[in-house]
Amino acid sequence: MEAPAAPHSPADRPADVRLTVNAPEQMRELGRRLAKLLRAGDLVMLSGELGAGKTTLTRGLGEGLGVRGAVTSPTFVIARVHPSLGDGPPLVHVDAYRLAGGLDEMEDLDLDVSLPESVVVVEWGEGKVEELTDERLQVVIHRAVGDTADESRRVTVSGLGPRWAGTDLGTLSA
Ligand SMILES: Nc1ncnc2c1ncn2[C@@H]1O[C@H](COP(=O)(O)OP(=O)(O)OP(=O)(O)O)[C@@H](O)[C@H]1O
Ligand SMILES: [Mg+2]
Repeated sequence: MEAPAAPHSPADRPADVRLTVNAPEQMRELGRRLAKLLRAGDLVMLSGELGAGKTTLTRGLGEGLGVRGAVTSPTFVIARVHPSLGDGPPLVHVDAYRLAGGLDEMEDLDLDVSLPESVVVVEWGEGKVEELTDERLQVVIHRAVGDTADESRRVTVSGLGPRWAGTDLGTLSA
C-alpha cells in the first residue's frame, strides 16, 4: 500500500524516503545511489549523531561521483575538495562544526573550486546551513536503537526547494 503523503508538505515537494540501512556497506551503496541524483550546485546536508554514518554515506557518494581521494572524516579541516576523475563536479566535503558562522564563510576558505560548480556535502550543518539555502537534500540518520553495537540505521531523505520538486527519491530505495 502507498504511504500517505505528509499532511503539510506542499504538492511540489517530493515524498520523503525512509530507509533502513543494515550495515556500513549498505550505507555506501545508498551514497552511490544518491550520487546519481546529484549535479553541480547541489547541497546535501547530513544530520545524525556521532558515528551515525554520515561520513560512510559520503564515501559512497564520492565513489558514485567518481572523485579522487579517499573520503574520510574532515575533522581536522573545515572542508576537503575531491576533484572529479572524469568530467563531473568535484565533491566538497564540509565539517561545519568548525565553521563559526554559516556556509557563507566557506567562500573565504580559498577552496580552489567554486561551490556552485561543486556538489557540497555538509556534516554538522544544523543551524548554520538552513538560513542560507532552502534548497537542499536533507539526509537524517538515526541509530535504530541506542545500542552502539547495533548496525541498523533509519535514514530519511527529503528534497527541499524547487531544485528537488519533481525528483523521484524513490529510486533510492530500489
Ligand atoms: N548501518 C550502518 N551505516 C553506517 N555506518 C555504520 C553502520 N553500521 C555500523 N556502522 C559503523 O558506524 C561508524 C560510522 O562512522 P561515520 O564516521 O560514518 O559516522 P559519522 O556520522 O560521520 O560520525 P561523526 O559524527 O564522528 O562525523 C563506522 O565505523 C561504520 O562502520
Ligand atoms: Mg563524520
